[in-house]
Amino acid sequence: RLAQVGKFFWRLTYGSALIGLGYLAYGIYEDRHPLDQRASDPSKKTLVILGSGWGSVSLLKKIDTENYNVVVISPRNFFLFTPLLPACTTGTIEHRSIMEPLRNILRHKTTAVTFYEAECTQIDPVNRVLTLRDNSEIKGDIAETSLPFDYLVIGVGAQNTTFGIPGVQENACFLKEIPDAQKIRTRIMDCIETATFKDQTEDERKRLLHMVVVGGGPTGVEFAGELQDFFEEDLRKWVPEISDDFHVSLVEALPNVLPMFSKQLINYTEKTFKDEKINIHTKTMVKKVTEKTIFAEVTKPDGTKEMIEMPYGLLVWATGNAPRSVVRDLMTKIPAQAKARRGLEVNDYLVVNGTEGIWALGDCAATKYAPTAQVATQQGQYLARLFNTMAKTQALEEDIAHLEELGHATASMDDKKAIAAEIEAKAKTLRRSKRLMPFQYTHQGSLAYIGSDKAIADLTFGDGNNLTSSGQLTYLFWRSAYVSMCFSTRNKLLVIMDWLKVKMFGRDVSRE
Ligand code: FAD
Ligand code: NAI
Repeated sequence: RLAQVGKFFWRLTYGSALIGLGYLAYGIYEDRHPLDQRASDPSKKTLVILGSGWGSVSLLKKIDTENYNVVVISPRNFFLFTPLLPACTTGTIEHRSIMEPLRNILRHKTTAVTFYEAECTQIDPVNRVLTLRDNSEIKGDIAETSLPFDYLVIGVGAQNTTFGIPGVQENACFLKEIPDAQKIRTRIMDCIETATFKDQTEDERKRLLHMVVVGGGPTGVEFAGELQDFFEEDLRKWVPEISDDFHVSLVEALPNVLPMFSKQLINYTEKTFKDEKINIHTKTMVKKVTEKTIFAEVTKPDGTKEMIEMPYGLLVWATGNAPRSVVRDLMTKIPAQAKARRGLEVNDYLVVNGTEGIWALGDCAATKYAPTAQVATQQGQYLARLFNTMAKTQALEEDIAHLEELGHATASMDDKKAIAAEIEAKAKTLRRSKRLMPFQYTHQGSLAYIGSDKAIADLTFGDGNNLTSSGQLTYLFWRSAYVSMCFSTRNKLLVIMDWLKVKMFGRDVSRE
């Protein structure tokens, strides 16, 4: 009995200590960020940042907002941690766990930043004016307005490409934003409940339980892996009657999936999918989609082509990026962008070709790098350095001009000499700060989750040395890497709690 009482008190002390530590850590975290920001100064140059994604937020984190009147415009008032979005489609992660309110990011800046939740619909690069539209459900008397800018950073990301394939836009689900993941989650359960409807025909049941993913890039592969996990770990248990008919298929036009990974990892992924019973259809190009059927052209080993039909219940389309309409519209206004296709063409300093004072970063810019969060983040950090340097340079130039005036006005030779020395020192600093290097990307590697607690990693370190790794240990690395990359402590905790919740209770199979 004494031992039990002792154990109880030990647990109580231990628990209280943990809670106390957590509370203390939270207090320190809150205190680090003073609420009393300096007001923004509209007399300073207006720097408008479009978007609240990887590129724009990384710029916002590092820029010294004291030097500019910073305005952020995005139809989304939060930052989204996209690498964990595929996990939201099955409820492994709850969507709010990977969202960070933009206001929370902005309140940590020393000088206030203005935010408007709106879509930028047009950019006038000559008159330097933006057109903004409130596209949210609730609109006030003013739902469209304009905003002049001195400097503009375009970080609007990209939209899904359909290559104009008939029926895709109308019938497929995409995977880019939170509503996409929510729609997929609802559809999975809808297909399952409809397939098990009383007296459902055999063919219809098989069709409804056929989940097809088109595009064997990382988005398609990660989603297919998550979906198969959902089936193996939860659906099979809760809805056993679908066990024989539930199938996931991955359709890819090229000879293999994940072309950006090494051959060894491609083979590992394809083998894992085979073991997990995910059907991979490579050399299969989708040509048309109807409400219930996918029509695809298969290239056979002898080079001949054959059209096949695939009845489906859920179709997730993940075939890459296309420019957003605001970007396409801007491209038509700038002659230097006449040949641009994938996005805005930029120079080595990320300035949009054919413009002045307009930069583009992330998925909306066409560069030699892949459209990834890693690239967008580094570009954001680079632009922050660029803007901080520009402000410093401007301040130095003003100082030098002021000193020159003083030098002219003074009669004393000693004062003239002292001023000249000061000018020389400032000019030296100015020359140094003007020497800004072009943007250079450092690739740290690629990671992807492929289902059944396995991940693949193509890591780069040192002077371009490569390390490939796969399996369950890599999965643990994948998890820790992504948790550490989550935006805030709150996000990190929520993601860990979601993983624990799923381990303990399984995923939620209710349809919203
Ligand atoms: P985004 O992050 O897409 O942000 C664009 C922002 O612009 C959004 O806030 C949007 O609301 C806003 N916007 C859109 N239109 C307008 C407009 N008209 N006016 C103003 N604002 C606008 N990359 C990796 O490196 N690793 C990964 O593991 C990884 N996983 C991914 C998983 C998924 C499911 C997806 C879809 C992508 C993944 N990526 C990953 C790619 C990565 O998410 C993108 O490369 C990255 O988001 C690009 O950043 P961005 O800032 O250019 O655009
Ligand atoms: P993607 O462009 O990487 O892959 C699309 C795939 O679809 C291609 O392999 C293409 O051959 C195929 N395809 C195109 N049309 C087709 C058709 N009609 N029929 C069949 N297949 C067709 O696109 P994804 O996966 O959306 O990725 C976009 C970007 O985001 C990439 O740069 C990617 O690296 C990045 N990303 C990175 C992740 C990671 O690092 N874990 C995860 C998700 C995305």
